[in-house]
Amino acid sequence: MTEAVFHLRAGGVSVVVATSDTALPVICHWGRDLGPLDAGALARVTEHAPGTRVTSEPDRPLAVGVLPEPKQAWMGPPGLTGDRDGAAGFPDFDAVANEYERVDSATVAQRLIATATDAANGLALRLEFELLRSGLLRTRAVVRNDGAGRYRVDGLDLALPVPGRAVELLDFSGRHGGERRPQRSTIVDGTHLREQRRGRPGPDSATLLVAGTADFGFARGEVWAVHLGWSGNARLWAHRTNGGRTALGGGELLLPGEVMLGPGEEYETPWLYAAHGEGLDDASARIHEALRARPVHPAVGRPVTLNTWEAVYFDHTLAPLHELAALAADVGVERFVLDDGWFLGRRHDRAGLGDWTVDPAVWPNGLTPLVERVRELGMQFGIWFEPEMINPDSELARAHPDWVLAPLHRDAPLARQQLVLNVGDPDARAHLRDRIVDVVTAHRIDYIKWDHNRDLVEPVDRASGRAGVHRQTRAVYELMHEIRAACPWLEIESCSAGGGRIDLGIVERTDRFWTSDSNDPLERQRIQRWTSLLMPPELLGAHVGAATAHVTGRSSSIDFRAITSMVGSFGIEWDIREATADERASLAGWIAEFVRLRPLIERGRIHRLETEPSIIAQTVVSTDRAHAIATIATVDSPAHLPGAALRLTGLDPEAAYRVTRVRPEASVDPTTTRRQPDWWTEPGIWPGIVLAEVGLPMPILRPQEAGLIELVAQ
Ligand code: DGJ
Repeated sequence: MTEAVFHLRAGGVSVVVATSDTALPVICHWGRDLGPLDAGALARVTEHAPGTRVTSEPDRPLAVGVLPEPKQAWMGPPGLTGDRDGAAGFPDFDAVANEYERVDSATVAQRLIATATDAANGLALRLEFELLRSGLLRTRAVVRNDGAGRYRVDGLDLALPVPGRAVELLDFSGRHGGERRPQRSTIVDGTHLREQRRGRPGPDSATLLVAGTADFGFARGEVWAVHLGWSGNARLWAHRTNGGRTALGGGELLLPGEVMLGPGEEYETPWLYAAHGEGLDDASARIHEALRARPVHPAVGRPVTLNTWEAVYFDHTLAPLHELAALAADVGVERFVLDDGWFLGRRHDRAGLGDWTVDPAVWPNGLTPLVERVRELGMQFGIWFEPEMINPDSELARAHPDWVLAPLHRDAPLARQQLVLNVGDPDARAHLRDRIVDVVTAHRIDYIKWDHNRDLVEPVDRASGRAGVHRQTRAVYELMHEIRAACPWLEIESCSAGGGRIDLGIVERTDRFWTSDSNDPLERQRIQRWTSLLMPPELLGAHVGAATAHVTGRSSSIDFRAITSMVGSFGIEWDIREATADERASLAGWIAEFVRLRPLIERGRIHRLETEPSIIAQTVVSTDRAHAIATIATVDSPAHLPGAALRLTGLDPEAAYRVTRVRPEASVDPTTTRRQPDWWTEPGIWPGIVLAEVGLPMPILRPQEAGLIELVAQ
């Protein structure tokens, strides 16, 4: 037997993997960088507690493999489950070759690939680990059926060990208009399991499953976080054994019979991403850095966007849209997006999905008069599609009832009056591709807002009778790929009734996310704070809505709304024809500031500040720490009278910063009796160490007020 220990190091993270040619690799350390260890020191990392001979536990010490196997005495969620005609197929990968490689790429630093065979079960396996330059780790597996007959895969989860000092968990839930509500719990023996069975991540997706030391926070404690880069059904779990071993794991959640491998066929898992950090911000920064290093990551200068949905809904009439476009260009909008309602029969949400041709009833001269006006005004043009959906009241549903992803013998339950189109059907997919490419190329449309408004309930392929979420998810990725290949200039925004499809799978095919249907800044402060743990702000659509938010009915000032949109991909979701001239001037002022600051916002590092719960504050700091902004928002009545200071983290303690409030002319309140700190009205110089350790005196902000501060090193 040959054994080798590999030490992968990058971005402040070490991953130590014990390998052998008779067993699958085991991660012995995933966490802080251990420095350059020699072979003797590395061997120490791989030593296990030997166990005792007097209990009923297995004789061999327990090892949580990356693909956990029962033969290693792992009694938590299994790695590979499946069977060949019902035969008990406990995996037994006992012939393994390991290959380590330093990688010359912008994103990946090192790679380890284990290829293994399980002769008893007729299976071959390929396990990949990549340590990205930012210290983000990812792992995936491919299993191949090398035997005769079919092998049914029920699940293939991968797992990573976390040390016993991780005692708490954080993950997320949520609802439409209220995505990413954090939930904390204590790690106890057994399994904490988060399943997503909606055929998409959904508004209640776990997003990240984080284990951490006691009371971990944004810049406190040590954390280990996992995320599955997948837009279909998924599971993430944390398991602690009765022996006190903890692992985080996950994989695609397969419906019965979804993956049946014929001889020679393979199943590939999505990437399981793993971010270690000294607190949440550090782990989050590793994900952001890895995304930003990709050659396909959107360049700095994300266009300020106006989306028409909450301005006109289904009322598509040319003159008001022309007026809206002109006002948009006036305030500084760079991309104009025509939302739902432009295609055949789509006067309301009960008809039309599937019929992707411009409706002559509302667009007698086609889209050209609008597209041309938008372009004349110097803006890009974007348009809404919901390709994976179909209304029973549509030409497509009447022509192709067989293309619906639903049981054959009865009507499927409707959601938002719609059914799911079976994109896994090659003819349906080709039809969609042709329709979308036609519309896009006819006007050289710059941007698609790609929506997905319902869950995949009872998703059955009517031709084969088999469940179809796995196939649907892969087919949608492929469809996006084909459309982008045909229209290389095109950008796509992933929307799913707001933020229901935000994950590291679809991010490889899209350029922006619609973060939530709630444009209420109070909700947005929380939603964006938590969604930005996974996705960097330049990918998260953050729109200034109407003064009275359509989803919550709550009213707020233009300044509070605009500052809330500042750390994001700035946009407008408001009928600005109804805005007062003052409001439009203020909006234009904020847009100009956003455009000035966006190189910083789109590449800076976010530090979420620990404050009392009534305040949400953050800094965004440039890589060289010479330039930063801070946003402070009051989301509730403060618990204390003013007097607190706000410690601004992430700055250079040795530098002196000029502290300036951005747009001090905003929120001037002649009735106020508030005495604000000097810097609120006059720029001042502050030592970085004082800002970090003592803090900036807090301005007195009423509930739903906010401030934007700029810091420039002198
Ligand atoms: C749901 C999206 O989240 C909204 O922004 C809007 O595009 C509607 N769908 C249109 O039907």
